[in-house]
Amino acid sequence: MKIAVTYGEALEQATPLLVLGVWEGESLPRAVAGLIEDGDWNGKFKQTTLLYPRGEVPARRLLLIGLGKRGQIAFDRLCEAAAVAAQHARTLHVDQFAFDLPTPEGMALASASQAVVEGALLGLYRFQQYQTGLSEIDQHEIEQLTIISSLRDETIEQGLALAEVIARGAALARDLANTPANDLPPAKLAAAAESVGQRTGVAVTVLGPDELAAQGFGGILGVGQGSAQTPRFVIMEHGEPQPDIPTICLVGKGITFDTGGISIKPADSMDQMKMDMGGAAAVIGALQVVGELKLPLHVVGLISAAENMVSSSAYRPGDILKTLSGKTIEVLNTDAEGRIVLADALFYAQRYQPDGIIDLATLTGAIVVALGPHATGIMGNNDALAERIVQAGEATGERAWRMPLWDAYMDMVKSDIADIKNTAGRAGGAITAAAFLANFVGDYPWVHMDIAGTAWTDAKPRAYTPKGATGVGVRLLIQALRTWAEPRQ
Ligand code: BES
Ligand code: MN
Ligand code: ZN
Repeated sequence: MKIAVTYGEALEQATPLLVLGVWEGESLPRAVAGLIEDGDWNGKFKQTTLLYPRGEVPARRLLLIGLGKRGQIAFDRLCEAAAVAAQHARTLHVDQFAFDLPTPEGMALASASQAVVEGALLGLYRFQQYQTGLSEIDQHEIEQLTIISSLRDETIEQGLALAEVIARGAALARDLANTPANDLPPAKLAAAAESVGQRTGVAVTVLGPDELAAQGFGGILGVGQGSAQTPRFVIMEHGEPQPDIPTICLVGKGITFDTGGISIKPADSMDQMKMDMGGAAAVIGALQVVGELKLPLHVVGLISAAENMVSSSAYRPGDILKTLSGKTIEVLNTDAEGRIVLADALFYAQRYQPDGIIDLATLTGAIVVALGPHATGIMGNNDALAERIVQAGEATGERAWRMPLWDAYMDMVKSDIADIKNTAGRAGGAITAAAFLANFVGDYPWVHMDIAGTAWTDAKPRAYTPKGATGVGVRLLIQALRTWAEPRQ
């Protein structure tokens, strides 16, 4: 969808469809008020009404979208309102529509325009690649969205451009996580990272099974040894180390399918485990955005990609694996595989002496129990970095909630026979997983994001997250990185 901006009065625009945001409890513009019965409209958040002005204004159709109370508007809510409107527009099969840019107090025009475009693009996302025989109507895409602003201000265009880049990164993450595992083995996940490199100039290196063996990536190899689809380790590098530029490592869990291994999962909804590379997808999406925006930072994406299968060559409960760090892991449950592949990647991150390590992983069912679909659980060893992530979550609507990571939890993952064990029972399962990871980050500032509850949705918690992969993490990471880069931009 092409995005354009027109400066002028919204109600004077000739367009197949004009979307007008209306604040709750506030009166409609006079030309619109005459088209609707009193009491049929109150502007409640996400309320919609379609009107046919029949010449009263030049637009063929008018869609009112409730913005809720003026004081309650935030970036995330404006995204949602735009998503609802855009989805409605698509059901009308129009080729284009115009959106009257709301100008909420306390929100910069750049943010408002970013929210509208980001919300519309994310809300219109769909994954139809595997459906044959769809009619033209089923596949109808809107060609253009025109933002109408009565204020002439070039920051609006900056907001639109930013939104387009970010939404494309999130859509890439969604596409990857929606793709079934038979079409996205570790090698293909690595190839997706390489193609981001070709498009954006991000430097990408892929290590295959022989290199992993030669260099001692015992965690990734152990988890992947049961699959005919061999593992990969991917390094994506934007920028280079420079004295006064921060280095940030983004680490992603890339289990392209998680059967649970010998500690096999129940059949019910095992199919969903094609998204167990949602962390890796977010890292690839984020690196694409970082590369396109040319952020003045040194950002390194690291992805551990493997398939966790059941076979005669699969790793077993009781096995002891030697990781890249030299530390040994006692495998008590082959379904706790994510932390094992991350162990190698997190240790690898230390070679960059980073100012921050952020890992994203669909790591535990326990975090789904704790927070449901509405927040990513975060844990880490650094208050400032954790706070940065929480703030970025608030700003984007990809909310993050911190859980404790006290020493008492660290004791729970000690092994009697190896250095560390990969499960510590059900109690505090999300936190003990983080406690396991903490063993591999050294003293570097680190935050772990457990996105098991937020990477996939059947319940559509937001209008701009249609069913399936949400691409969670991309928008949050970009927000966090942009604020990190801010003094330099
Ligand atoms: N990939 C799963 C976690 C998961 C669960 C992701 C639900 C998305 C939705 C992970 O590898 C896993 O199986 N974790 C186990 C760990 C346990 C064996 C200690 C879990 O949470 O049950
Ligand atoms: Mn698992
Ligand atoms: Zn998993």
